[in-house]
Amino acid sequence: MKVLIVGSGGREHAIASSVAKSSKVDKIYCAPGNAGIGQIAECVPIGAMEFDKLTAFAKENSIDLTIVGMDDPLVGGLVDVMEAEGLRVFGPRKNAAILEGSKAFSKELMKKYNIPTAAYETFDDPKKAAEYLKTAKMPIVLKADGLALGKGVLICNNLDEALDGVKSIMEDKKFGDAGSRMVIEEFMTGREVSVLSFVDGKTIKIMSSAQDHKRAKDGDKGPNTGGMGTFSPSPFYTDEVDAFCKKYIYQATVDAMVAEGRPFKGVIFFGLMLTEKGPRVLEYNARFGDPEAQVVLPRMKNDIIEVVEACIDGTLDKIDLQFEDNAAVCVVLASDGYPISYEKGYPIGGLEAFENNNGCYCFHAGTKLDNGRIVTNGGRVLGVTATGATLKEARANAYKATEWVSFDNKYMRSDIGKAIDEA
Ligand code: AMP
Ligand code: GLY
Repeated sequence: MKVLIVGSGGREHAIASSVAKSSKVDKIYCAPGNAGIGQIAECVPIGAMEFDKLTAFAKENSIDLTIVGMDDPLVGGLVDVMEAEGLRVFGPRKNAAILEGSKAFSKELMKKYNIPTAAYETFDDPKKAAEYLKTAKMPIVLKADGLALGKGVLICNNLDEALDGVKSIMEDKKFGDAGSRMVIEEFMTGREVSVLSFVDGKTIKIMSSAQDHKRAKDGDKGPNTGGMGTFSPSPFYTDEVDAFCKKYIYQATVDAMVAEGRPFKGVIFFGLMLTEKGPRVLEYNARFGDPEAQVVLPRMKNDIIEVVEACIDGTLDKIDLQFEDNAAVCVVLASDGYPISYEKGYPIGGLEAFENNNGCYCFHAGTKLDNGRIVTNGGRVLGVTATGATLKEARANAYKATEWVSFDNKYMRSDIGKAIDEA
């Protein structure tokens, strides 16, 4: 069969490399893709938001299955547009992708269906938000309602910071229209865990857990980024946590979406915080995490096409989802200065070292081909993933592999997976 993947990051490279392992697949296309994806798929120069062009391409090239990796096209309704033309697509429709697209929606859903999350209020008037903050307990968390590249969340330590935050989100529109509405929520503390799942509308199957490192600098300092590295599984995701989430969070979310007339098919990503009072949902995403996909998918034993097709067909209950009994660590190699300002266009050396290294992967995020050479083309450039029998072994292998790669202004955190030493 012919598969089209929509997106251009490390996540899409990880998806493409799982798809490439499937015996069912003859040809992979990726729109728009990147230089690394181009080594296993044919990249087509169509942007992820060019719905009409993507649909026309899929029809003209008899694509059997489209997998949408990115949040923007999902929230914008690409699945609906393609389905209306009779195409088979993996991902939630627009009315279900709102689970990620609107924090006000997801908070309301959790409140209505008693899914454990932080207490909150929603505001569309900055004056009312400011009034509320004057009596609120600090620190407090401000969230722009809409999509903001994972950066629309401000943690404010005092009233002055919170009032400035309201101004920057709702008046200065720092995150654009995403900030027309805002959620203000209780500050929680605890470890964070990312749990990805496959959902077919009614059945949910949980993937192996992962943990992300969102801040740019070592020791969880510096600005929030899309993610600087991940490990899987999380040793903090215990059987007890799993049992709690199965009872109160996972199926409850899927059922709530059905009850709202918005059945969800695709990947639900649960951003959890393990608080003293038990697991709480920080956020939902309607897609694989990036870089979570880069540690979770290489450990998945199933043929990804069989799982994805079961989600589309509503037969996920027949699938026995299985993961290797090993561990994986991904270290993101970024351009120094990310996420604020950075340079692009530097040649990348050493990539050939990954060709025959079983258990080591180099997923491309911001790269492109320039006159036959692979050059840096973004803030997050590469995700270097290694597996190992244990998390410590995987971490050592991943850091060793980061040394194989060279480019000007190469930057990475040196403490990805350090938390596992405390487990
Ligand atoms: P989100 O995009 O909602 O996952 O938020 C981004 C990051 O902000 C999370 O990964 C947490 O580190 C932090 N965060 C979000 N909500 C809260 C909260 N209620 N309390 C503490 N930290 C939070
Ligand atoms: N790594 C977090 C995300 O994909 O949103």
